[in-house]
Amino acid sequence: MSGPRIIAIFGATSAIAEACARAWARRGERLFLAGRRGETLAAMADDLRIRGAAQVAVWSGDLALTNGHPALLAAIEQAMGTPDIALVAWGTLTDATRAEAEPAYAAQEIQTNFAAPAALLLALASRLAARKTGVIACITSVAGERGRQSNFVYGGAKGGLQRFLEGLRHRLHGSGVTVLDIRPGFVRTPMTAHLPRHGPAWATPERVAADILRAIDRRRAVLHTPWFWRWIMLVVTSLPRPLLHRTKL
Ligand SMILES: NC(=O)c1ccc[n+]([C@@H]2O[C@H](COP(=O)([O-])OP(=O)(O)OC[C@H]3O[C@@H](n4cnc5c(N)ncnc54)[C@H](OP(=O)(O)O)[C@@H]3O)[C@@H](O)[C@H]2O)c1
Repeated sequence: MSGPRIIAIFGATSAIAEACARAWARRGERLFLAGRRGETLAAMADDLRIRGAAQVAVWSGDLALTNGHPALLAAIEQAMGTPDIALVAWGTLTDATRAEAEPAYAAQEIQTNFAAPAALLLALASRLAARKTGVIACITSVAGERGRQSNFVYGGAKGGLQRFLEGLRHRLHGSGVTVLDIRPGFVRTPMTAHLPRHGPAWATPERVAADILRAIDRRRAVLHTPWFWRWIMLVVTSLPRPLLHRTKL
């Protein structure tokens, strides 16, 4: 890819996505921002232009509603053309207690964190594959790597998305399009503001964004960010079930 690339960010108001957008703006890329807070997106767009983005366009709407995706994809085509890079970033940290008590809420969370991103990824895959180039990147989570009692609705949705991305990567093998599964650990963003956030395991959105940009440039398949989560999750996924069941993980 040469010249400014077209980068579409879905869930652009996410703190991690915004840190990526700022880094891409510094490189002079063309950015399409999709999210549900129109005023925030407009302010972000002004900021990104000042930071160096070659072009910024915005779209506002609820990304969990898949019937809005065709209009969104048409808006990207009209504003810029087919993206070189798509970053699917939106998500919600499920309230585990509420999800166990209210299956309808759990289903809505699974829609937001798995079904809707999967539907959008399919639509993006066919567009990018038709052009035979590009990168599809999606933020999942280390929480998707093993089912655990503390957050298995969120973890189940993210884990489903990880299997989906794995299959999509296989499907697109040889097409010129690569698929990146981004698995952050603990990141200091609005999503985790209610948690105690001390200790070296907590990363900033900027650190995670730097890892994401590098992994996209290198066309990696799976990214643990920061890097040490790969080894933490190796331990968690290797733990024999009887041992895991004795923990509160
Ligand atoms: N923070 C962590 O520790 C962590 C760890 C692992 C994975 N992740 C994942 O990283 C991604 C980014 O999250 P973040 O940490 O940057 O948190 P964040 O700043 O709270 O961002 C989450 C974003 O998702 C958007 N969103 C949620 N539902 C949406 C919907 N239906 N339609 C449109 N936008 C919607 C939110 O929009 P509004 O601003 O309108 O609410 C918000 O911008 C998520 O997929 C999350 O699951 C985060």
